[in-house]
Amino acid sequence: MIIGIPKEVKADENRVAITPAGVVTLRDRGHTVMVETGAGLGSGIEDTKYRASGARVVKSAAELWARSEMVLKVKEPRPSEYRHLRPGLLLFTFLHLAAERSLARELVRRRVTALGYETIQLEDHVLPLLAPMSEVAGRMAVLAGAWCLHAAMGGCGMLLSGATGVKPAKVVIIGAGIAGANSCQAAAGMGADVTIVDRDPARLRYVHDILGSRVATLMSNRAAIEQELKDAQLVIGAVLIPGARAPRLISEQMLTSMQRGSVLVDLSIDQGGIAESSRPTTHHRPTYVHRGVVHYCVANMPAAMPHTATYALTNATLPYVLEIAERGVLEAGARNPAIRRGLNTFEGHVVHPAVAEALRTHPYSPWD
Ligand SMILES: NC(=O)c1ccc[n+]([C@@H]2O[C@H](COP(=O)([O-])OP(=O)(O)OC[C@H]3O[C@@H](n4cnc5c(N)ncnc54)[C@H](O)[C@@H]3O)[C@@H](O)[C@H]2O)c1
Repeated sequence: MIIGIPKEVKADENRVAITPAGVVTLRDRGHTVMVETGAGLGSGIEDTKYRASGARVVKSAAELWARSEMVLKVKEPRPSEYRHLRPGLLLFTFLHLAAERSLARELVRRRVTALGYETIQLEDHVLPLLAPMSEVAGRMAVLAGAWCLHAAMGGCGMLLSGATGVKPAKVVIIGAGIAGANSCQAAAGMGADVTIVDRDPARLRYVHDILGSRVATLMSNRAAIEQELKDAQLVIGAVLIPGARAPRLISEQMLTSMQRGSVLVDLSIDQGGIAESSRPTTHHRPTYVHRGVVHYCVANMPAAMPHTATYALTNATLPYVLEIAERGVLEAGARNPAIRRGLNTFEGHVVHPAVAEALRTHPYSPWD
């Protein structure tokens, strides 16, 4: 198969969808790999390294998209890239279509077969390609939140750990999956007073097993969240229903009950956000203040740590890339249910039930 890796165009996106070691693996299996010039620079990988591993480095994005059978990316195509989408193209990347209606429309209209990293799902519900990024973003969320608590950022000026004779800050984490559990470990490690909320008791038990009584676990419901928000200094949103829009768990009214200078880091912004007040921000302008609460809603947080994130992501994606390249998407999807669940659009149809329900613009068509 001819596999193309374009340079990412999303604001401040420094990750790249393949490493030189990945190129060697694909080449060893007889595939052709094209990389757009400069694609790896943000992650410290120069064109010469890709060339040395056997990739063809091409100058023009248009040529790369036109000649590739499968395009591997990190972030969803941006509007400037829609013109490259064409019938028969296989696209493998983070898509987050529930929050990207115009992209969904283009993928269907242009009959692209698109697999979302975030909906590749194993039998035990684990999301193996989202997990490495959630691990990175979950840890970063606590650092970002601690920074937003600075008085100069509009925060209330509380150090997460407190100090001798002074109480630590209260951190409330909503969602105890991969991102939430990693935030929990980081916040507890910094000495904050941590409460983590989930609707799945198994996830709360997992957090309790690894962190014990250092953190409080709480079953998710509206009353519990409302109560916890009132005295929290840092709230981290980390819920996910795969493929679907994030549930709105923080209403405008709940926000008004929060302390002035408290902080909301909404990791779930890539699926639309958990607060009515959440809207996407960028690494260049990461925050805004609404009703006295500092909002940090960057949808591609790991992009700020491209070295760690590129290697963590591509370690996870490569086995799936190989399987799809070797068998083709039809056979790979038929044999591997995780790949089948990754399919969002197929030849002009929306083939993921949760994505179809979130979009409400195209009916769900079972892939088979
Ligand atoms: N902003 C970024 O840069 C960035 C990076 C990585 C991941 N993310 C996002 O972070 C979110 C979490 O990802 P993850 O990998 O941890 O997902 P996950 O599936 O591992 O965990 C999600 C958790 O949310 C819980 N949940 C669902 N509905 C809930 C509710 N109503 N109340 C409480 N808990 C609820 C689930 O039970 C689950 O434990 C996703 O939206 C993901 O896309 C964002």
